[in-house]
Amino acid sequence: MPKIEFQEAGVTVEGEAGDDLRKIAHKNGVSVHGGVNKYINCRGFGLCGSDRILVDPKDCVTPLTWKEKLHLGEKSKMRLACQAKLVSDAKISIAPALEYGEEMKGNLQFGAAALFFGGLTLFFVVFMLFELVGKPLF
Ligand code: FES
Repeated sequence: MPKIEFQEAGVTVEGEAGDDLRKIAHKNGVSVHGGVNKYINCRGFGLCGSDRILVDPKDCVTPLTWKEKLHLGEKSKMRLACQAKLVSDAKISIAPALEYGEEMKGNLQFGAAALFFGGLTLFFVVFMLFELVGKPLF
């Protein structure tokens, strides 16, 4: 069975050839997601693009899938752990997933602030409209 070294976790495990790297990682208690993506991800369907990893050597996993090309681009050096299936011994770095997780954290904070202030503005506009027509809300 091929050996997989998860560099950041400092863990080396054996995996079944043909299994995807996300499945192997999770089976061995290693996360391939960073930040909020540990909780908010597509659970391996190739839809969220959050489990970004670097593999070494390049041919230790199956070729890029169309989902990876969509998320990462045709010539990306990164892979999605849920789409890359193990072929031979591999070294895995989850640095791109950690970086992406931090990026998403910033986006979520911005989204929450936008939702809060947007809601406040909408409430104010509705409140003013009712005041203008002479039927106060309170
Ligand atoms: S877990 Fe969502 S793309 Fe891999």
